Amino acid sequence: MLQIWGKTPLKGHVTISGAKNSALVLLAGSLLCSGSCRLRNVPSLVDVSLICEILVALGVKVARQGDALVLDASDLTSSKAPYELVSQLRASFFVTGPLLARLGVARVPLPGGCSIGDRPVDLHVKGLQALGADVQIEHGMVNAYIRGGRKRLTGARIYLDFPSVGATENIMMAATLAEGETLIENAAQEPEVVDLANFCRAMGARIRGDGTNRIVIDGVPALHEADYMVVPDRIEAGTFLIAGAITRSEIMLSPVVPDHLTAVIAKLKESGISVVSDAPNQLRVIPASSYRGTDIETLPFPGFPTDMQAPFMSLLTVAEGNSMISETLFENRLQHVAELNRMGADIKLKGNIAVVRGVPKLSGAPVLATDLRASAALVVAGLAAEGMTTIQGLHHLDRGYEHLEDKLRGLGAKLQRVHESTALSAPGNSEETVPSPLAECASENTPSDPLSALI
Ligand code: EPU
Repeated sequence: MLQIWGKTPLKGHVTISGAKNSALVLLAGSLLCSGSCRLRNVPSLVDVSLICEILVALGVKVARQGDALVLDASDLTSSKAPYELVSQLRASFFVTGPLLARLGVARVPLPGGCSIGDRPVDLHVKGLQALGADVQIEHGMVNAYIRGGRKRLTGARIYLDFPSVGATENIMMAATLAEGETLIENAAQEPEVVDLANFCRAMGARIRGDGTNRIVIDGVPALHEADYMVVPDRIEAGTFLIAGAITRSEIMLSPVVPDHLTAVIAKLKESGISVVSDAPNQLRVIPASSYRGTDIETLPFPGFPTDMQAPFMSLLTVAEGNSMISETLFENRLQHVAELNRMGADIKLKGNIAVVRGVPKLSGAPVLATDLRASAALVVAGLAAEGMTTIQGLHHLDRGYEHLEDKLRGLGAKLQRVHESTALSAPGNSEETVPSPLAECASENTPSDPLSALI
């Protein structure tokens, strides 16, 4: 559990890690390379560790060098991703396109839904079929082969019914090694798609139009070694902007790409909170003693990111006036509402729309993290709440925020991770009797490096 003592002002600078959602797809993309690739600025996260385990099962040699991972995919030994790993991580479906392009066959279990929604893979499958794959789904397994005994996929014109990030990435990776030109229309424009295109180009792929809704890929016979640095995590950066705003603290973040946060910064500004960029890769949030509610609708990039919906909602719970938040991307991504209400927020749900009435303050409470971004929402709410907030379900948080507790502690926050048994057995487990967090923040309370077991 994570115990947070709220109402402590934050101060200083925080370093933003490499983007989780870029790192995951880039790691899968390393399967395309006939040699070895080096990826720098890879965050140390449980999800990264899981995808590395899948790569190892496929025959990739993975070695760690500081914050870099060296991935040698020259001799792939299997085309089948193990169910026990894929079932833990939806992003593992990213290996389908690269495996198919490299080996002519991919056998990947259906990743299934998750707590935020059903998350089908029909758009990935349709795209791969258009590139010449025969795809059968049997007994929960996606079996994909290149049709007609051909060695390479064939370029095609693909229209996506929805600009799915994962489908765009999977199809783009498969198309890098296809014969001829592929055109993806209504493609996702997220920065992670652009990061993947940059990495593929570093390996010799011929891609243009990434960052727009029309991506063109000219297939090449093979991709070569590359050394590439993962882009900074825009969602982690946005979460720290909220942490500063909700605690009325001035904090600085770097490295960041401000253009990746345009919608979040615009909505902060609309609420009366300024964010300035003193240097090209740096942002500073300027606190406001009070701020207003605003309406938010989650949309594909460059619209407001669904991954920031939950943390931003925490901020709006203590804004002046009302806000309306519509979640349009995932059908079950408002589970934090009930938990925020436990902390004194006033939020009413109507389907996928949350109506937030600003309250003067939040108060610490025991709460349950239901998914990754809901966990982040509860952390920032806990930082602003009166008294102690106890968050359970931390495995979600560990999937997506590198060294979050250390980073917050570096800014002055008071928090500590404790084992549930310790906390429950503490006599009169109340705010008054829990020892000072400043004295208790021993490193054994933080999770060990998830990658250390692997390499
Ligand atoms: N969709 C389909 N069919 C498909 C693919 C998607 O119907 O074949 C639907 C989904 O069910 C969803 C919508 O399209 O309703 C958007 O899904 P998308 O494919 O764009 O998302 P994703 O690739 O599954 C990535 C991130 C998510 C992030 C979304 C949207 C990774 C590993 N995950 O998911 O990140 O929310 O894009 O930006 O890149 C997170 O980090 O917490 C997270 C969930």
